[in-house]
Amino acid sequence: MALYHRNFLEMKDVTAEELRTILRAAAELKKLQKAGKPHKVLEGKALAMIFEKHSTRTRVSFETGMYQLGGHALYLSSDMIQMGRGESVEDTAKVLSRMVDCILARTNSHATITELAKYSSVPVINALSDFEHPCQILADLLTVQEEKGRLEGLKLAYIGDGNNVANSLLQGCVKAGMRIALACPEGFWPDATILKHAEKEGDVKVVGSPAEAAKDADVLYTDVWVSMGQEEETQKRAKAFAGFQINEELVKKAKPDCIVLHDLPAHYGEEITKDVAYGKQSRIFQQAENRLHGQKGLLALLLNQEFEASMRASVKN
Ligand code: CP
Ligand code: NVA
Repeated sequence: MALYHRNFLEMKDVTAEELRTILRAAAELKKLQKAGKPHKVLEGKALAMIFEKHSTRTRVSFETGMYQLGGHALYLSSDMIQMGRGESVEDTAKVLSRMVDCILARTNSHATITELAKYSSVPVINALSDFEHPCQILADLLTVQEEKGRLEGLKLAYIGDGNNVANSLLQGCVKAGMRIALACPEGFWPDATILKHAEKEGDVKVVGSPAEAAKDADVLYTDVWVSMGQEEETQKRAKAFAGFQINEELVKKAKPDCIVLHDLPAHYGEEITKDVAYGKQSRIFQQAENRLHGQKGLLALLLNQEFEASMRASVKN
């Protein structure tokens, strides 16, 4: 099936081949941008970006990405649009669909994104919800591919909260043919349905300790202990997550050439030490830059039918 005019709400929305197509598009557009070659494949297109939560990378990558592709992005903070004072999600989706070519939303509740998608006649992109963060995974996999030259067969160890990022990451790894071991404290595991499905499809394990997860890993990955909206759980989480940290000792348990990733923002001294985040095995800033290229690949495929057909054909060959 074509990716053109589709939603990207959860990782399960794309097949393994479609994920490869997005990564191919991202890499192609990155090459063109680095070579200073024009790639304005979205001239005249507009993207509405609804944000109920803070963002640096996601906002800037989508906004700059649309600009570089020749289109336009509108930043709509939820407290500045009528939705923030009670206009329904349904009406918002219907109105925006008539004016823009794509809607992106970062919401507190995943249900808001699925409702937007239900009533929108243009593609809707999940820019992070409490359930998934699929756009992040595009940058993560692109970074691993750039660094290791492949994805298939590599082992990624995820240390920490089985949250939105982990839910998307574990599905992305399975689709990419990677192995994933997750070390999450009791009670902070990934979504049970996602986990069960992923365990059936690929090599996914939840293990007892960060050291066990890190053994022979090619990639170490972590995310914050306290996600946006969970601030009142800070104390409880600090206790539960003690020891679930990427530090020098843990890096030594992985393969000597392992790379370290973090979706950012980071809380140094909690889920990762600053030494490691700024150390020679860290690729966190390359990963952050790749948000731009990942987003451009995704947008170009969803919104330009010809570009999508050519990328799809190139992945098949
Ligand atoms: N990783 C990520 O989504 O960052 P922002 O919250 O800054 O967008
Ligand atoms: N899990 C984090 C990711 C931030 C990009 C959060 O939801 O706040």
